[in-house]
Amino acid sequence: EKAGYKHFMLKEIFEQPWAIKETLVGRLSMEHGDVHLPEINIDSTTLAGLSRVVLLACGTSWHAALVGKFLIEQLARVPVEVDYGSEYRYRQPIVSAADLVVVITQSGETADTLAALREARRHGARSIAICNVIGSMATREAEGTVQTHAGPEIGVASTKAFTTQLVALVLLALRIARARGAMTPDQVRPVLQALTELPRHVEQVLSCAPYIEDIARRFYQCSDFLFLGRGMHYPIALEGALKLKEVSYIHAEGYPAGEMKHGPIALIDEHLPVVTLAPRDHVFEKMLGNVQEVKARGGSVIAITEEGEPHLWSLLDPQRDARLVLPPVHPLMSPITMTVPLQLLAYHVAVRRGCDVDQPRNLAKSVTVE
Ligand code: F6R
Repeated sequence: EKAGYKHFMLKEIFEQPWAIKETLVGRLSMEHGDVHLPEINIDSTTLAGLSRVVLLACGTSWHAALVGKFLIEQLARVPVEVDYGSEYRYRQPIVSAADLVVVITQSGETADTLAALREARRHGARSIAICNVIGSMATREAEGTVQTHAGPEIGVASTKAFTTQLVALVLLALRIARARGAMTPDQVRPVLQALTELPRHVEQVLSCAPYIEDIARRFYQCSDFLFLGRGMHYPIALEGALKLKEVSYIHAEGYPAGEMKHGPIALIDEHLPVVTLAPRDHVFEKMLGNVQEVKARGGSVIAITEEGEPHLWSLLDPQRDARLVLPPVHPLMSPITMTVPLQLLAYHVAVRRGCDVDQPRNLAKSVTVE
């Protein structure tokens, strides 16, 4: 059942090109420059009249929500709030019928997320569940759904369920943007094109697996890791840190890179590898600054960047640092492609440390208690 892979986690990481294709099936309309999502059960007029979107989730799905905030605010120009299910339910949230609540839950059974959904619905909010399990509680309790169709995820650490949540959020952001007139069909089409190419790009990233295995071999004995990203890649840094913690039991922290100087910089010494996510975006120069700060304090850098970037390599020491170069992708897709090497890094580090990657200690696949 592991199809020749040593672990479900590895199988599920490698299934991502296929899983993303499944999330996209039947949903892209090049002709109309729009996205088909009839199952959200919320019409364009209602979407146009929304005053706010609230994204609620736990764990890895909460990281998807943080990326979703960037996507929906940038594309649909509507304010987005993100909260943990476990916090939202107890904080007397301000919510009304003009709000759309989107719960993001792979299993559809997470108790805290379900309680948050119920709390929002009690105040009249409209609701959608982004979910990977058909017929689960979240899909039955929300008015509408976006199924991710990633297939069953057996590994306890979420991988393909997360990247397909990100794809679903791009789709939802585009649909809301079209309904509100925030994007024209001509503005949507290049994003649809990028989504169509995404499975192939993820395939290319997966072909870098041997390089990541090599990075894991060099760094697996470290006891702490720091992950840095900016903008949409800051939640991906959080996800990279969570994945590493979950499967390898190494202490890891994710930070928005600009926050490094406000505290975590104190941790940097020769024993702390810093994973920096440096796509070629409008804040690339800022990430170079972070790399210089780490190097100046004797830290090691594991830089994940995109092809065609000439500056980063010159800052690194091939003996002490590592660099992984990914194919260049559409800026809205790079949180997805950059997730993949972080999953592989966590996996290979954990395997080297002899951990049970599919069944990490103390964790369960779905958390149906508070
Ligand atoms: C991390 C992980 C957990 C879940 C969280 C929410 O790898 O699997 O953090 O993401 O428990 O689960 P769902 O998405 O099922 O609500």
